[in-house]
Amino acid sequence: MDMQRIPAQDGIYNLQNFDKTRETFSWEDVKKNFSWNETGKVNIAYEAIDRHAEDTDKKDKTALLYSSPDREEKLTFDELSKKSNQFANVLKKYDVEKGDRVFLFLPRSPEFYAAFFGILKTGAIAGPLFEAFMEQAVRDRLQDSEAKMLITTPDLLGRVPQEDLPDLEKIVLVGDHNESSDKYIDFQKEMKEASTDFDIEWVDLEDGMLIHYTSGSTGKPKGVYHVHNAMIQHYATAEWVLDLNEDDVYWCTADPGWVTGTSYGIFAPWLKGVTNVIRGGRFSPENWYGTLDKFNVTIWYTAPTALRKLVSAGEDAVKKHDLSSLRHIMSVGEPLNPEVITWGMKAFDLRIHDTWWMTETGAQLIVNIPSEEIRPGSMGKPIPGVEASIVDNEGNELPPNQMGNLAIKKGWPSMMRKIWNRPEKFESYFVNGWYVSGDSAYKDEDGYFWFQGRLDDVINTSGERVGPFEVESKLIEHPAVAEAGVIGKPDPERGEIIKAFITLNDGYKDSPELLEEIRQFIKTGLSAHAAPRELEVKDAIPKTRSGKIMRRLLKSWELGLPTGDTSTLEE
Ligand code: PRX
Repeated sequence: MDMQRIPAQDGIYNLQNFDKTRETFSWEDVKKNFSWNETGKVNIAYEAIDRHAEDTDKKDKTALLYSSPDREEKLTFDELSKKSNQFANVLKKYDVEKGDRVFLFLPRSPEFYAAFFGILKTGAIAGPLFEAFMEQAVRDRLQDSEAKMLITTPDLLGRVPQEDLPDLEKIVLVGDHNESSDKYIDFQKEMKEASTDFDIEWVDLEDGMLIHYTSGSTGKPKGVYHVHNAMIQHYATAEWVLDLNEDDVYWCTADPGWVTGTSYGIFAPWLKGVTNVIRGGRFSPENWYGTLDKFNVTIWYTAPTALRKLVSAGEDAVKKHDLSSLRHIMSVGEPLNPEVITWGMKAFDLRIHDTWWMTETGAQLIVNIPSEEIRPGSMGKPIPGVEASIVDNEGNELPPNQMGNLAIKKGWPSMMRKIWNRPEKFESYFVNGWYVSGDSAYKDEDGYFWFQGRLDDVINTSGERVGPFEVESKLIEHPAVAEAGVIGKPDPERGEIIKAFITLNDGYKDSPELLEEIRQFIKTGLSAHAAPRELEVKDAIPKTRSGKIMRRLLKSWELGLPTGDTSTLEE
């Protein structure tokens, strides 16, 4: 088969004529799928959950199929609606109001989803945190967002530095605990007492609903702020790209602490009223194939790093399971290797569809549409309603096959509306009417986009975005570390791994024990995924005359590449 072009396979495709749809499409048409089109009253929690619960044909349909090593549970749309109403009442009782930031620091569990929609129903802004975050990561996010309330478990409470969080008024604890202070709210007890009816807070399309923190190459993580309007694009892409239909069973493997886990782990499937599989616990090929098999998953959205691990596990692991229900697979987060697509054709007899987008973009923008030919190695083409291009640094469009900044014409529905508390940062994304992504790419003559790399120093390790500055800042908090420079180093399974170069303070000597101690310091202080896999002691860290760490130079040294222009290097 010509691997450069894999024709579409047979299947149910909601978007049959891509080119024609692109020509005639308007976002206004998507609005007709929502009741607020007539009332003007909006709440994404209503559209995703309550409207199905109000529908006599849908209310008893399974919305959530939860499975983890020690727990299994199903919730219908009606049950999820009632539980989220109860939680909204709990929040109201403790004075949560529209616009307040309420954070979730919880493992994936049915309680997470009830609480998440409870927050949205009050008009508050939800802030999901990845369960593996340690103290520094939790502090940065809760401080910056001035969070008023947090929902967590007694186990995770130790990572919440309450003394540094003056705005945090209450903490809801999910699970048994012995805390007696009135700062704590007992989830089980309050839920039992709360009414299952709630008057949802109707908001404006442009009102806030969600903050996801993400990393850049400089500064602390930034709070990417999304509004209810995003639902228009979640809905459209659920139809065109996820190809969701009434009877599908859908599984998105991402954690809701990251944007894929909310936009496509929560909103897209439920806006379409589809049964959504949520898997708790850790990754293993056996667990994952087992999940696909057991729940007869039809549509699967996952990431290259997981797919590469499945490739390593071999075809026999696949053959142990009946995956005949599966009809559509998608990938996001990092480049999807053509070899993985080839393997997917053999292992599943299905193509794997790459999709490109970012925390800041809120939803998919460049994708391989199921009904179209795909070109392995390419991210695909922009969805209808989105204009993408390759531009130079001044925002001028470049011709086909020329590498440059991957940029999107401002104005798609799910675009972030601000960076929390940092208006200048938000503005810095836009040049000449284009949102400039920070990725480099080129476009071929037929309009397919090909990812080339990051233009900044942001590291993508196993599909997770890590800012070098954050890791460097934490490293120099260790008493042995004087200076630090952090880079991403290519790795066949993880995409990149984090490598840190450090200099030591007087009195400390380079030893494997010390390096391991420093690694653990990051792992337990910041988060496991930000801990450098490799640490190397240097006599000096290269810096510019103005004091900026020259990560690019560190990278060239590490990879044995030409060092390029070093004229700004400090003596
Ligand atoms: O570099 C691109 C890479 O992930 C970045 C966005 O990361 P994040 O905000 O964490 O969102 C990830 C999931 C939406 C991008 O700037 N990336 C994402 N998808 C792809 C990709 N790189 C190559 N191919 C992709 N399909």
